[in-house]
Amino acid sequence: MRHILMSLRNITKAYREKNKEIKVLDNISLDIQEDFTSIIGPSGCGKSTLLKIIAGIEKYDSGEIIYYDKNIKIGFVFQFPTLLPWMTVLENVALPLRANGLNKDQAEEIARRYLNLVGLLEFKDFYPNELSGGMRQRVNIARALAIEPTILLLDEPFSHLDSLTAESLRSEIMDLWLMGVTSVRSIILVTHNVDEALLLSDRVVILTPRPARISKIINIDMPRPRDRRSDEFQRLEDLVYEYISS
Ligand SMILES: Nc1ncnc2c1ncn2[C@@H]1O[C@H](COP(=O)(O)OP(=O)(O)OP(=O)(O)O)[C@@H](O)[C@H]1O
Ligand SMILES: [Mg+2]
Repeated sequence: MRHILMSLRNITKAYREKNKEIKVLDNISLDIQEDFTSIIGPSGCGKSTLLKIIAGIEKYDSGEIIYYDKNIKIGFVFQFPTLLPWMTVLENVALPLRANGLNKDQAEEIARRYLNLVGLLEFKDFYPNELSGGMRQRVNIARALAIEPTILLLDEPFSHLDSLTAESLRSEIMDLWLMGVTSVRSIILVTHNVDEALLLSDRVVILTPRPARISKIINIDMPRPRDRRSDEFQRLEDLVYEYISS
C-alpha cells in the first residue's frame, strides 16, 4: 500500500443554474496517495470539477475530504490558460509566492529556480504571448511547482500541444517525478489520452459519463520507461478501452 495523503469519501456535486440542476459528481471515493494517478473520462463528465474540489477551490454538496497531513499544499496546472499577459514569465511564476507573503526578491529567487528546472530561465523576462504553447505550459508547470506542493494536479496539460511537444513535456514531467527533485509526492493527471495515462501512471481511474462515478481503477505495474509496443502495454490498453466503452 502506498502512503495516503488525503481521501475523498462519497463526494457529490451538482451545479445549479436558473432552475436547472446538473449533477456532475456522483459518490466519488478516492484516496490521493503517493503515486502518479491518471483520471480518464469523457468530455464534460466532471473531471475538472473533481480536480477543483481536490484543490479546495470548488465546493461540494455532500461527502467528506479527509486530510492525513495538516501541511498538504496543492499545485494546479489548469486546463485553460491562466498566465497573466501583462506580467513577465518570472513575475507570473513569482505571483503565487508573493500572494503567500514572500517579498519580491525572495519570490523571484524561487521562481528562477523552478524556471531553471523546466528549462526556461533564459526566457524569464519574456511575456507569455512571446512564447510557444509548449513553453507557456512549462511556465504553468513551474508556477505550480514553485509553491512547493505536496500534490500536483494537472488538468489535460498536454492536450493543447502538438504531439512532439506533448511527448517531450511528458518525459520531462516523468523525469522530474522519478528524480524526486521537487516537493511533489503525488501527481493527479486528467487526460483523454489512454496512451498517455498508461505511459505515465501507477493507477488509472476511469470515470463514467456525467454524472461521474468511478467505474474502474486499474493498477499499472510496468517498469519505466515504458514501451508502448510491449505486450503488457497493449494488453492494458485494450483493458482500459474495454472499461471506457462499457
Ligand atoms: N462553474 C460552472 N457552473 C455551471 N456548470 C458548470 C460549471 N463548471 C462546469 N459545469 C458543468 O459541469 C459539467 C462538468 O464540467 P467539467 O469541466 O468538470 O467537465 P470535464 O470532465 O473537465 O470536461 P472536459 O473533458 O471537456 O474538460 C459540464 O456539464 C459543465 O457544463
Ligand atoms: Mg476539464
